[in-house]
Amino acid sequence: MYYFCSIKIQDTSSVEQQIVISRNLPAELTVAIDRVQPDRLFVLTDVNTRDLCLPVLRDALSASKYQSFNVITIGASDEAKTLDTLAEVWTALGEGGATRHSMLINLGGGMVTDLGGFAASTFKRGIAYVNIPTTLLAMVDASVGGKTGINFRGLKNEIGVFNAASTVILDTQFLQTLDTQNIRSGYAEMLKHGLISDEAMLVELLAFDIFQPDLEHLKAMVAKSVAVKERIVTEDPHEHGIRKALNLGHTAGHAFESLALQENRTVLHGYAVAWGLVCELYLSATRCGFPTTRLHQVSQFVKETYGMFPFTCKEYDRLYELMTHDKKNTAGIINFTLLGGVGDIRINQQASKDDIFEMLDYYRES
Ligand code: GLY
Repeated sequence: MYYFCSIKIQDTSSVEQQIVISRNLPAELTVAIDRVQPDRLFVLTDVNTRDLCLPVLRDALSASKYQSFNVITIGASDEAKTLDTLAEVWTALGEGGATRHSMLINLGGGMVTDLGGFAASTFKRGIAYVNIPTTLLAMVDASVGGKTGINFRGLKNEIGVFNAASTVILDTQFLQTLDTQNIRSGYAEMLKHGLISDEAMLVELLAFDIFQPDLEHLKAMVAKSVAVKERIVTEDPHEHGIRKALNLGHTAGHAFESLALQENRTVLHGYAVAWGLVCELYLSATRCGFPTTRLHQVSQFVKETYGMFPFTCKEYDRLYELMTHDKKNTAGIINFTLLGGVGDIRINQQASKDDIFEMLDYYRES
């Protein structure tokens, strides 16, 4: 078993998040549960992970003292990331006899780990939880670093808290059953980690064949990618400063995602982030001197891998309005994270409405 990081995520408690690259799931799970010694164990799945991943978890716990647990199942996809679903989880915990000393294991993608993390963080003022992400997106981003929450009034992750899972177990065996669209979705966050980290990592990411992914190679890249996030989150767990680097591509990306949500168009988070990266690298080039050759390379990669998000100039005002709701804004001013070059992070960058409209023009024309 290899613990490669331990993040002190709450100044007011002694909870430290351990991230485990899995080699032996039964042993690692037992250690993760033993750390908390819960009186009752609950496992949260969605309708897909209940069928595809829960058998693996049951198997892993079958010879342990934790073989008996309650399963709570919620709908799959981001549309289920609601207050109603959250209430269903609280109800199931209450009816299942959960106490303050119980534990929730979130087995699923980012929706399950975000919503489950929030349910655990608020039930009886907070119970311990473990994340076992089953999608690439959740492995490299959502499950790590303590952000939890739900969507509210058409806005992504509008309500939530920072509260870390006690342990995150990254087991890439779950990627074998993941469809290619979801692999690509997670890969966008890896691309972001490359952009905020270093040239070598970015070059490796741009050269990788994402259409026919070599899972062994991908596994090694996942470990590197999570290490980037871990380094940043350890430095700034509550996003007062450098953690904002992780928002690269997300100001525009969340606006695309929120627009799609309001129009009942289905868009995977990573796709929106990839489109947002193109937009924000354009702003980076015009405002911070990000090299245009890299901008064009990334734009080309994103277009080939993720296609385009269709919208017209009639939607610019709505997209701008959505960006004004971004959680990173201060006093109504839209704050971007931009880059002066690969790994050269510039947080708290402002752009005028005209700059933003020009950015949207570039996106549509690129
Ligand atoms: N997804 C960005 C962060 O965890 O801060």
